[in-house]
Amino acid sequence: AATTRYEAETSPAVCTGTIDSNWAGYSGSGFCNGTNAANAYAQFTVNASAAGTATLGARFANGTTTTRPTSLIVNGTTTQSPSFEGTGTWDTWVTKTLTINVNAGTNTIRFNPTGSTGLPNLDYLDF
Ligand code: GCU
Repeated sequence: AATTRYEAETSPAVCTGTIDSNWAGYSGSGFCNGTNAANAYAQFTVNASAAGTATLGARFANGTTTTRPTSLIVNGTTTQSPSFEGTGTWDTWVTKTLTINVNAGTNTIRFNPTGSTGLPNLDYLDF
């Protein structure tokens, strides 16, 4: 199926933090700078043409040298625990590819940080 880009700064996406634009290279008008705290999540609402396995690409930057752990919560259920490694600088963006199961139609995809440093900066989700 075709890929749609869901920007982190565009409703109905939710960013528990601020939408910033102070680091170069982002797509759209900014990125989600999640609060540096556990559970300060970012959530995307995506549309799937069919139920089943789907690939998503989460574009992020982490200018620290410490990996940031998360739970990936799809439609309210934690499915896996992706962590977001350091990318070198805050303006170096990397796309992490993940495979999930989705329902046909609307799905919520939440990255919920499990560490006190919170999320990396999140630019968009390709789905
Ligand atoms: C810095 C950086 C932010 C980033 C934050 C963090 O403050 O400027 O863009 O979100 O670190 O540690 O998450």
